[in-house]
Amino acid sequence: MGLKCLLPLLLLSLLIADCASRPLYRLPSEAKDGTKKPLQTSRPFNVAHRGSNGEFPEETAPSYMRAIEEGADFIEADILSSKDGVLICHHDVNLDDTTDVADHKEFADRKRTYEVQGMNLTGFFTVDFTLDELKTLGAKQRYPFRDQQYNGKFPIITFDEYISIALDAPRVVGIYPEIKNPVFINQQVKWANGKKFEDKIVETLEKYGYKGSYMSEDWLKQPIFIQSFAATSLVYISNLIDSPKVFLIDDVTILTQDTNKTYAEITSDEYLDYIKPYVVGIGPWKDTIVPVNNNRLMTPTDLVARAHSRNLQVHPYTYRNENQFLHFGFYQDAYLEYDYWINKIGVDGLFTDFTGSLHNFQELSSPLPKLQ
Ligand SMILES: *[C@@H]1O[C@H](CO)[C@@H](O)[C@H](O)[C@H]1NC(C)=O
Ligand SMILES: *[C@@H]1O[C@H](CO)[C@@H](O)[C@H](O)[C@H]1NC(C)=O
Repeated sequence: MGLKCLLPLLLLSLLIADCASRPLYRLPSEAKDGTKKPLQTSRPFNVAHRGSNGEFPEETAPSYMRAIEEGADFIEADILSSKDGVLICHHDVNLDDTTDVADHKEFADRKRTYEVQGMNLTGFFTVDFTLDELKTLGAKQRYPFRDQQYNGKFPIITFDEYISIALDAPRVVGIYPEIKNPVFINQQVKWANGKKFEDKIVETLEKYGYKGSYMSEDWLKQPIFIQSFAATSLVYISNLIDSPKVFLIDDVTILTQDTNKTYAEITSDEYLDYIKPYVVGIGPWKDTIVPVNNNRLMTPTDLVARAHSRNLQVHPYTYRNENQFLHFGFYQDAYLEYDYWINKIGVDGLFTDFTGSLHNFQELSSPLPKLQ
């Protein structure tokens, strides 16, 4: 590796050192239109899955801010609701694995069992806590093999706060919110005037000026992909907002939460033709594109080719640096995994827990042209 290759890394570390002194985030956004470095659109999108959650507890402000420092094109979030109908960023419908709720004796009586996606789940659910109560909890790292030192230090953030972090970034950074578990949320939370969860998400996006089709001038100013595993939610909001949407596709064994369809059904040619007018892409679990047996990659399926032939992008999830997530053949080297997916499989975006690694790989292998 020559000096030319090391230079971007050096610049990146200077950037990180410089950004560390920035305040957490400012509300409301002080950013001025047109003065920021634009979104790169010449190489696959670096989507910071729940922020830089390989380093910080997922979906917290530090996790998102770290991802922005490290070069994310998009910061990704799961949107759920509190009991009082405030939209929040949190992946699981329950709080057990990623907060310190178990240490809060005052909430001991909130434990419930709900049927979620055909399974009975017991725990502490976001829909049984008001926003004020949720804000007293501390987020914690999901995986025991990741850094635990931030456990309990950062609160759950709202959808509004997440958007503010993106808008306050020193360059254009997109958002990638997921309409998470809409069937369950619409069952449990009721909003005024018969508004649904999906309506509230769109209302919030409109409040902050998100609009415009993929690559339009409005979109490039405030890039966004709206994602969901529930096709009915994407079809429903397509009448409300023209922002690009991505249909998520789960593991082969999991039925869709809204229409109870199998993996084979939703990846068929007929279904891709059906969903195509509503979305710009699909977001499949990566092991369903390239099946894995006994930790070995098998022959890739034709899902990427069939999506591309319909002009649909493919943004697979989730790329993770740790040895236990890297399949045999990548020599325990996350760069080789990125190389395979970007240059062999030809995906258009990647959801990664380690935005910094993906960014460094892309800077080394396909640096952006210098601005004139
Ligand atoms: C969940 O529990 C309820 C009450 O015990 C039961 O009626 C229901 O069948 C269970 N659902 C599943 C999917 O196991
Ligand atoms: C969903 O479909 C599966 C078979 O594909 C069936 O066994 C199950 O009963 C269905 N569930 C509902 C709620 O319709």
